[in-house]
Amino acid sequence: MTRQYQEDLNLKVEAGTPVVQIISYEWRRVHGIAAKAAAENKRDLFLWNNSEGIKKWDRIDRKWLSENDQLRDPVEALDWYLTAKADMILWMEDLHLYFDSQQRNEIIGRLRRCSRVAQGYTLLLSQPIHRLPPELEKEVFILEIPLPDRDILKTVIKHVVSQLQLERRSSPEEEWSAIAEAALGLTELEADHTFREIIIEKKRLTAKEIPLVVETKEQIIKKSGTLEYFHPREAFRDIGGLENLKAWLKSRKAGFEEGALEFGMTSPKGVLLLGVQGCGKSMVAKAIACEWNLPLLKFDLGKVFQSLLGESEANIRRALDVAEAISPSVLWIDEIEKGLSGARSSDSLDAGVSARVFATMLTWMQEKRKPVFVVATANNIEQLPPELLRKGRFDEIFFVDLPGDSGRKDIWKIHLVKRLKDDRFKKGNFDLNILSKETVGYSGAEIEEAINEALYHAYNDGTELKASHLMESVKATYPLSKVMASNIMKLREWAKVRTRLASDERTEDLKPDDKMKSIQLKHEADNPFINQ
Ligand SMILES: Nc1ncnc2c1ncn2[C@@H]1O[C@H](COP(=O)(O)OP(=O)(O)OP(=O)(O)O)[C@@H](O)[C@H]1O
Ligand SMILES: [Mg+2]
Repeated sequence: MTRQYQEDLNLKVEAGTPVVQIISYEWRRVHGIAAKAAAENKRDLFLWNNSEGIKKWDRIDRKWLSENDQLRDPVEALDWYLTAKADMILWMEDLHLYFDSQQRNEIIGRLRRCSRVAQGYTLLLSQPIHRLPPELEKEVFILEIPLPDRDILKTVIKHVVSQLQLERRSSPEEEWSAIAEAALGLTELEADHTFREIIIEKKRLTAKEIPLVVETKEQIIKKSGTLEYFHPREAFRDIGGLENLKAWLKSRKAGFEEGALEFGMTSPKGVLLLGVQGCGKSMVAKAIACEWNLPLLKFDLGKVFQSLLGESEANIRRALDVAEAISPSVLWIDEIEKGLSGARSSDSLDAGVSARVFATMLTWMQEKRKPVFVVATANNIEQLPPELLRKGRFDEIFFVDLPGDSGRKDIWKIHLVKRLKDDRFKKGNFDLNILSKETVGYSGAEIEEAINEALYHAYNDGTELKASHLMESVKATYPLSKVMASNIMKLREWAKVRTRLASDERTEDLKPDDKMKSIQLKHEADNPFINQ
């Protein structure tokens, strides 16, 4: 099977496209792809890097031969290429490291000559991130290489198994597909190391080792700093209220089923959940993955922007690549506005880099072909860039408000049953109507906390949980909606015309508490949510 990117490169080489930039951090795969394109078009393949100068690929003996180890300077290497007569591909590794160096002008000048003087052969630039001097943006063809698919990972297994001379029965071929599936999301080299380590330790690589592969993969991905695997157990039935949102999500599930694509459907892009703190936004993100039975990756956008200069672009690409490699998947971006505002105020990144990282993310959200469902959550609309709210990024924007009467009853019941189990809950004879009436303006998180608190009281009293314990802790709680009443009312106004409501249930009006003003802390007064 020839993959799309291989076909694209073969064609570009055949057509004599002067400069192609390959985006990948996997040099072994780039080598394979370049060697195939060279063979297909009967060209010689040369490689330049700044430590070894120029080498030539010996197709028969499958090894590199030194061509000119003096040419370590990129400008000299480009001059060599510009005067070369051979029918060739020159593959240059990490030339982008020089785009901001003193040699910038000389390099751009030569690249421009390469792209304008049609020599009929191709210069291949490989680098982990998309980076080109603006002067060349229009002259270079960009080829992105996705992370390895199942078949490539099977090739890696085969390679490692034969190198380590593992017997066939210690790694039966019919189990390779499942092992490869478990390693999706890793680069070829990471997968190679993972399989190697397992074989050395266990003396075998079979379906029994899949949990180990998964565990290693999750650790490798977590180490990259911006992504984390989650194994949630929340289901829609654990979420009180939000019936519109749940119904919409249920209807979208079909988009990830096999056959949906053949039926002509496109998989859903994602959803933005805006709203009040503690009302279940993060919980919904987790429940989606659980209900749809898809892997859940939590993406820390703030960390992308905190990374060292130059790394943030590689980081965002890696994160999006992983989400695509393990797709169908759910990519959860919690508190997206905080990540994005971090980008604007970050000292470590210049404005150009943050703009590029943000643009990469928006373009990906709009154009992604792989079934990755993005769930973003946000509390503060004022910090959200308008581009994010534009049509095409998300399928829907939902507003998650404080629960209304029936939502609160649901939430009370869900959490009481969760803690007490059915029999103790029934024996307690709790009046959900009263509990709901007493908690107007409380969020789900506050109701849950009140139950927790009440259980402590009951335990210390040496009795079963009673309604009086619950009342006591409800009275002792000061819900956030009192502190932030006017902000929440404003948010509702804003949301009414721009978003879909996660619940149709009418929510009670909130009254700002005048007492609050006198007991505000300084940082609360600075908070844009307060006193507007
Ligand atoms: N609608 C709800 N149904 C059941 N439990 C809820 C609901 N809303 C909140 N909770 C409880 O409160 C906890 C916190 O909710 P969650 O983290 O989902 O809120 P959030 O909207 O993401 O808040 P924040 O904006 O502060 O991140 C949940 O783990 C859950 O136990
Ligand atoms: Mg949250």
